[in-house]
Amino acid sequence: DCRPTAKARKRSRSPTGNPHLAFSASASLTEKPPAFQQPTQLISFSYTPERVLEFTDSALRYFVDPPRNAQLSHAYDRWERRPEGRARIDGLLCALSAARAKRHPALLAGFGVVAWRGVITRILTAPYEEREGWDLNVMYVDGVLYFEEHLSEARLREKNDIEPRHRIQTYFGYAFESYCTSDSPGATNVPQTPGDPPGWGGDVNTNVQWCSVVRTKLGDTRMVIGGEVDCVRGKYTGATDTFVELKTSLVIRGPHDEVKFEKKLLKFYMQSFLLGVPEILVGFRTPAGQVTTTQVFKTVEIPRLVRGKPHAWDPAVCLRWGGAFLDFLQAHVKGRPATDVWRVRFTPGTGVELRVLDAAEVKDVVAEEERVGFL
Ligand code: A3P
Ligand code: MG
Ligand code: MG
Repeated sequence: DCRPTAKARKRSRSPTGNPHLAFSASASLTEKPPAFQQPTQLISFSYTPERVLEFTDSALRYFVDPPRNAQLSHAYDRWERRPEGRARIDGLLCALSAARAKRHPALLAGFGVVAWRGVITRILTAPYEEREGWDLNVMYVDGVLYFEEHLSEARLREKNDIEPRHRIQTYFGYAFESYCTSDSPGATNVPQTPGDPPGWGGDVNTNVQWCSVVRTKLGDTRMVIGGEVDCVRGKYTGATDTFVELKTSLVIRGPHDEVKFEKKLLKFYMQSFLLGVPEILVGFRTPAGQVTTTQVFKTVEIPRLVRGKPHAWDPAVCLRWGGAFLDFLQAHVKGRPATDVWRVRFTPGTGVELRVLDAAEVKDVVAEEERVGFL
């Protein structure tokens, strides 16, 4: 039971300032970065079109080559859109207990961190993030850190009120997934609705997701990470080495675009690296949503593409920071009551600050959890 109590309030009155960790504290460039263990899958699950979590692979999709010049605005008016919410950890916890029932206990022992992949991506890419700050809720229960993204009400409204111009760009990404996947291995997509273009894999319903939960290790910290996987190449074996990540990006028209793309590659890289996804297919599109070319990137080869450039990023910096971040959290939350809820705030260019939530804030978090049926 991780239900917070009023104890949290007492702590927040303590006169000590909030602990913080600055990037400079983990910036030693000579120190060897902590090792990251090759992820292995513990369990997979699916969200149905009605957004019901089930322990099947019903939402698993298989890679197919997309048609030439795919038009990504197709069937925009038929998009079944899942409202933007807070990425709650409940589905992952549910998967973890299902894994406990199914898998050898040794596979599930000794974890230090449980989180969605998106959260870990944000943490590890923080040293290079120039614009977007973020907040996390953190709980520490029986030696395990649970991370969850925290979005303010205002930020949540912002995400749901995006302009149509931006919303269709989001849709382009999902439409690309439709063209690149089919529901059985080796099957070519046959249009279902009159007017569908060749290769269209079915209308987009963003409730539907196939997720993989993996175990891995950063330095000495064992982690359970869950994330959506877009599709697999060939047969599904349960190993991550057939996973494929699909992305869209604007066509590169000059050196300025190229720099932008190469900076973005850090996020593509980290997102895939964390789940052990070996391959990323990028569809380059026009502003109006026409795919002009596609390119396969091998995840492990991406860092080499940017090395030595002025806007280069280095995964070793990310891993060192990740290790320092976990040490920092563990040092501050160890020995504190499991009922405390912590907030980590990241400020671009600076680092992170940690504080314990007061009772009113905890109540808000709990109310949110209850609203989505977590507690
Ligand atoms: P892109 O391929 O165009 O990025 P993912 O790539 O992680 O599988 O996500 C699929 C699509 O969801 C993305 O397609 C993008 O349209 C949308 N998406 C993912 N993360 C997003 C975010 N943080 N904000 C807005 N849209 C996002
Ligand atoms: Mg995806
Ligand atoms: Mg994708």
